[in-house]
Amino acid sequence: MNTITVNASKMYEIKIGSGILDDAGGILHKLGSTAAIITDDIVGPLYAERLEHSLSHSRTRVVKYVIPHGEASKNAEQFLSIINFLANEKLTRTDTVIALGGGVVGDLAGFSAAVYMRGIGFVQIPTTLLAAVDSSVGGKTAINLSAGKNLAGVFYQPDMVLCDVALLSTLKPEVFRDGCAEVIKYGVIASADFFKSLEAPMDTHLKEVIARCVEIKRDIVMEDELEKGVRKLLNFGHTIGHAIELLSDYKISHGNAVAAGMAIITRAAARMKICDSSCKQSLLQMLKHYNLPVNTTFDSASIAHACLADKKRDGGKVTMVFPERIGKCILEEIKVEGLENVIKLGLEEN
Ligand SMILES: NC(=O)c1ccc[n+]([C@@H]2O[C@H](COP(=O)([O-])OP(=O)(O)OC[C@H]3O[C@@H](n4cnc5c(N)ncnc54)[C@H](O)[C@@H]3O)[C@@H](O)[C@H]2O)c1
Repeated sequence: MNTITVNASKMYEIKIGSGILDDAGGILHKLGSTAAIITDDIVGPLYAERLEHSLSHSRTRVVKYVIPHGEASKNAEQFLSIINFLANEKLTRTDTVIALGGGVVGDLAGFSAAVYMRGIGFVQIPTTLLAAVDSSVGGKTAINLSAGKNLAGVFYQPDMVLCDVALLSTLKPEVFRDGCAEVIKYGVIASADFFKSLEAPMDTHLKEVIARCVEIKRDIVMEDELEKGVRKLLNFGHTIGHAIELLSDYKISHGNAVAAGMAIITRAAARMKICDSSCKQSLLQMLKHYNLPVNTTFDSASIAHACLADKKRDGGKVTMVFPERIGKCILEEIKVEGLENVIKLGLEEN
């Protein structure tokens, strides 16, 4: 088992290994008297019983709340239902919410744990690649509003992350691919060597891939927990990606939208001479290698409009992440009026 320590406003461990779900009870022995598992209706039937069984050894009372799977559940109604559930089950501040699922469950359960009684214990057990490498680490929690994604949220670091790599074996290939987009992102923003290593199929070195992504994210979060600066690099491909998700009414998944977003902003970067064409080619090839999209059918005006609903807008400017080369990205402030042009450059194949 690999343990990575995050030393942010809260110090916590991320444990990565195979089969650790069954050891959860022992690892999480300081949970408080009640643990509330939040999961969805796909992950729950697969793994909740094993978790409940393991927790029962530590004499913890376990209650469970199951949401319908999918992005549509990351909303205010589910959030209210969960915190009412926690109240009805009489959880106190010393008890713990355990998110067992992908990024949707993690974001929603984390937001609920942060708000209920002004914050109770919170553990993440990520079950998708995306959640393992990204959403379970770093303390961003949120729900979507009709105006846009993640518009209500707080930073709330977990007390522990247990990443059982074996749980990823039941993922549908398209859900696994969503995570591949985030993994590729880490290569582009932080390490050319890591990017190159992704030419070998990810599932052949999955534990190492997850650990490397978590280390990269840990380092960034420890430098800038509240996203005032360097943490914005993690949004590479995300401003356009979130716009694509919103425009598709969330029919296009997060990972696919981020992949298209990374490709679009990189083509724009090449046209703007921020990166050279080999950087662009490397990214496009890697995305195609993992069967991820490299463009979208939405037009530049619609994307720009949707981008401006994104929380990353700051007054008259939007901070965009551009690659300079594989392994290094920069932040550039773009005037709101200029955003559509940048997107247009990125939509054109060149
Ligand atoms: N908080 C952050 O820092 C952060 C970062 C990136 C993304 N996100 C958020 O994460 C969400 C996307 O997360 P996701 O891609 O994990 O989606 P998801 O949680 O919707 O999971 C995708 C699908 O896979 C199923 N699933 C999950 N684990 C499974 C398993 N082990 N076996 C079989 N099926 C399984 C789920 O039921 C769901 O249908 C988005 O809402 C995004 O905004 C948050």
